[in-house]
Amino acid sequence: MTKVALITGASSGIGYATALLLARHGWHVVGMARRAERLDALAAAIDALPTPHGNFAPVVGDVTRAEDTKQAAAVAEAGWGRLDVLVANAGVGQRGAVVEAAWQDLETLLRTNIDGVLHSVRASVPLMRRSGGGHIIMISSVAASLVSPYAATYAASKAFVSSIASSLRLELREDNIRVTDMLVGRTETEFNEKRLGEGKRTKSNLPAMSADKVAQGVLNALNRPRDTVILRPFDRLIVLGNRLVPALMGYLAKKQYQ
Ligand SMILES: NC(=O)c1ccc[n+]([C@@H]2O[C@H](COP(=O)([O-])OP(=O)(O)OC[C@H]3O[C@@H](n4cnc5c(N)ncnc54)[C@H](OP(=O)(O)O)[C@@H]3O)[C@@H](O)[C@H]2O)c1
Repeated sequence: MTKVALITGASSGIGYATALLLARHGWHVVGMARRAERLDALAAAIDALPTPHGNFAPVVGDVTRAEDTKQAAAVAEAGWGRLDVLVANAGVGQRGAVVEAAWQDLETLLRTNIDGVLHSVRASVPLMRRSGGGHIIMISSVAASLVSPYAATYAASKAFVSSIASSLRLELREDNIRVTDMLVGRTETEFNEKRLGEGKRTKSNLPAMSADKVAQGVLNALNRPRDTVILRPFDRLIVLGNRLVPALMGYLAKKQYQ
């Protein structure tokens, strides 16, 4: 039976690359984002894949609105009668001091990275249960475990995602639904240019990987389920460094982001 995935934030970067890769491997994909024209471009790219490939259904919607995420799950059910995978990927970045940052930016960040993930999960799980099980991939960040002065609210939003993943995994075990927490490191996407607050002025000198590499990591995690995925040795080093010497890592981050 052809598997069905719902990917939030499918209009660019990691979500786009993952939608294309899953469709290439024969999956049916519901791709959700706010920019209709970008979803149209993804639909055209999927159409142009060598046959056989999976089908694509775009859903123009906002993850901060529960009803939009329910609509995306409804499209999966109406189109293919099931949902096997959710990639909870839509997210935004923000840089700036906790106290001085514009509240509007913090609110957008929290509504997208926290509410958006909760809405996506809550919309998807009932259909996964009716489908006999499933797999949720949470796109978190190595930042989730980092002391991150001047990127503190973003890091905390991703800590929320990783924390929810670890508890949700146990809540859904009897439903045969897996939960994978992907701690993604710096990736070459539109993320940096779109970052809220001071972010655009700060050039990161950390090495970046391609969105295609992250997409391959998602596919690998679906084929060989694991609780936590960190794709690069470099990112593993960052996470370990923060566990062993958090003050030093915080000092280095402050120098980079301030
Ligand atoms: N790039 C990195 O270095 C990096 C590192 C670690 C983790 N991550 C995480 O990876 C995920 C994907 O980011 P990316 O790097 O691929 O960046 P990206 O190219 O900017 O993609 C972000 C996606 O999220 C969607 N999105 C944002 N707000 C939304 C909303 N309210 N409703 C629906 N969709 C929304 C965007 O689509 P629309 O604007 O069309 O709605 C876009 O498709 C994020 O969760 C990010 O935190 C990225």
